[in-house]
Amino acid sequence: MSEDVFEQKDRFFGVGRFDDPYPKLAELQKKCPVHEGSLSGLFGTVGAENTIFPEESYVTVTAFDEVDRILKSPKVFSSSWYHPSMGEIVGRSILEMDPPEHRRFRALLQVAFSKSAVEGWEEAFIRSILNRAVDRFAGRGHADLSQDFAFLYPIEVTATAAGLPVDDLDEFYRFTAVLTNVAVPAEDRLRASRGLGEMVQRLIDERRKDPREDLISVLVQARLTDEEAAEAEIGDGKRTLSDEEIVTFVRLLVPAGAQTTYRAMTNLLYGLLTHPGQLDALRADRSLIPQAVEEGIRWEVPLTYSGRTVTTGTEVCGRPVDAGSQVQVLLGAVNRDPQRWPDAEKFDIFRPPQRHLGFGTGVHVCLGINLARSELKCALEVLLDRLPDIRLDPDADPPSITGLGMRTAARLPVVFTPS
Ligand code: HEM
Repeated sequence: MSEDVFEQKDRFFGVGRFDDPYPKLAELQKKCPVHEGSLSGLFGTVGAENTIFPEESYVTVTAFDEVDRILKSPKVFSSSWYHPSMGEIVGRSILEMDPPEHRRFRALLQVAFSKSAVEGWEEAFIRSILNRAVDRFAGRGHADLSQDFAFLYPIEVTATAAGLPVDDLDEFYRFTAVLTNVAVPAEDRLRASRGLGEMVQRLIDERRKDPREDLISVLVQARLTDEEAAEAEIGDGKRTLSDEEIVTFVRLLVPAGAQTTYRAMTNLLYGLLTHPGQLDALRADRSLIPQAVEEGIRWEVPLTYSGRTVTTGTEVCGRPVDAGSQVQVLLGAVNRDPQRWPDAEKFDIFRPPQRHLGFGTGVHVCLGINLARSELKCALEVLLDRLPDIRLDPDADPPSITGLGMRTAARLPVVFTPS
């Protein structure tokens, strides 16, 4: 697997370059909930967001309530913000659609990612993928849980859920890392997009002839309400998805699912390994795992921001904003809003439950939320079952979480009794 593709993407999102942006974000938050410029601009750097849209077109929001409102107001704050970075390469996916178009496509996909579907996947393949990942290093007595574990399993889970062949995982992973990286020249991204598209197309052809239980089979059989057909009263007003619509969805799904879960897993493990008392509590009482997962995502979101394009003159935190402006909502900063969480910078799995925005909110709330939670929960269970005395390697350099647009612990050296 080419490391360069992944390292290049990480560098662009500040992994390894920004240790801890949160003290500065807390200062900005204290001064004012809205700032001119993008997150990268505020930190004097170039990131994906200010490469795509000019720095001057941005306002950045750090207050929980205002970000919550923006994400729930898609008429004024449009997801077309994603079009130049994703749509031109991936195709027109739900990520860049606004209601009512978004609602019709999302409703079809939602069923495939329901809580009960994901519970079935836990037994069908998630736990076995995790156990196979641990098998590769359990006998060694030491491992890097970031690269040897967290980096590898989410892509296999997502590919298996989608019904994609897992023998080509390396190529598959590389395609997804390239096509979502705006630092890569457009022609290379388009080539990766075509490569992934061809893999998915072969499967669509097979499943149209011989449907099975997987996601692609669900999608080839799904019927979408077609507003034109419905108005003209043609048939039942529904149609099947085109090959291109299915390919586009899979092109979005794989990177959306793999890299975020990898980063979330490393951050959660870092929180637990650096707070051994809390890890002990999980060892003693596994029912604490779901709240530990939620706290991990609140405390160190893998994806620190999202964005929206303003469709009509409006206000953000009382400040006038013109149509055509870009609003960057800082999911990381709002998850540490001191109005909502006391000592927000502390990792504490015993906090009273409180809604956070790590998975977004409103109509675009993460489609994979049940799958992500389940992958993180099962991964902790498998690690605690298989390596019960796991701890940070006292002889290795201490790890850290770094990044600005994305946050990751790129290495997590641990030791344990070999098994
Ligand atoms: C811990 C892991 C994850 C985090 C933190 C995360 C975070 C997010 C966030 C913040 C959004 C909203 C973006 C916006 O409104 O602009 C989103 C949307 C989305 N996520 Fe996730 N995600 C994770 C895992 C997954 C997984 C495992 C999948 C599927 C396999 C997935 C699929 C999607 C899709 C398809 C959307 C677009 C939904 C829409 O536009 O309606 N995500 N995710």
